[in-house]
Amino acid sequence: DFMYSIKGLDDVEEYLRKSLKLQDILIVPGDLDEEALIINELGKTAAKYIKENLKEDYIISLTGGSTVKAVIDNIPKINKFKNITVLPARGGIGKNLETQSNTLAAKFAEKISGNYKLLHVPDNLSDHALEAMLNEKNIKEIVDKIHKTNILVFGIGKAEEMAIKRGVTEKEINELKTKGAVAEAFGYYFNSNGDIVHFTPTIGIRREQLENIDLSIAIAGGKSKAQAILSAELNLNAKVLITDEGAAREIMNIL
Ligand code: F6P
Repeated sequence: DFMYSIKGLDDVEEYLRKSLKLQDILIVPGDLDEEALIINELGKTAAKYIKENLKEDYIISLTGGSTVKAVIDNIPKINKFKNITVLPARGGIGKNLETQSNTLAAKFAEKISGNYKLLHVPDNLSDHALEAMLNEKNIKEIVDKIHKTNILVFGIGKAEEMAIKRGVTEKEINELKTKGAVAEAFGYYFNSNGDIVHFTPTIGIRREQLENIDLSIAIAGGKSKAQAILSAELNLNAKVLITDEGAAREIMNIL
């Protein structure tokens, strides 16, 4: 059986690239759950990959989180690209300023001498408030740009952890559990089959738009995130997955 003859990371990459139908997969050695510094390896690897794929006039959208932060921290100063715009992929303000998508978008733009726009929109808006927001000229302009994203970089989290971070009520957390939510990425919650079971109403990138994005890059590591990564990827089909060995080997076990 092929599974049992797998040894090196190259084999794991090849196996996951095929089974998850990825354009590219990059696996860094180690496990983020065991060594916190692995986040920098993930960040470096992703930063290099993004740099190699940047083009003039590109629009790059980012989500927040500690993993995407590590990517931005590892982007070198670059001057050679003209007219790059960096945007938060979606509205929603996490509690931690450091890892908010707005902050990361501004930092990234500064490093590559590009432009950025910020979205100040709370999570969990009512339909009414959402619609009103989308009719605001300023916001509409940014959202239209987000919808033209060329490179999307997003993190993946465990459903319950993310729900707690977003400050949802205990009742809602229980509802998520009942629905079998295991993963979260840019506001969508997924069950283990990759079905969307819940959505945080906000503005920005929507599921339907992913196919039209030239380069979608999911980045997440740690063995304990394996199920979340697999579930989100089953639904979102990001073209590129950047992960670590701990998560990758565990995803193989689940598959
Ligand atoms: O809150 C933004 C976000 O990208 C979530 O969509 C995702 O679940 C989470 O951050 C990942 O965060 P981290 O990389 O810190 O685990």
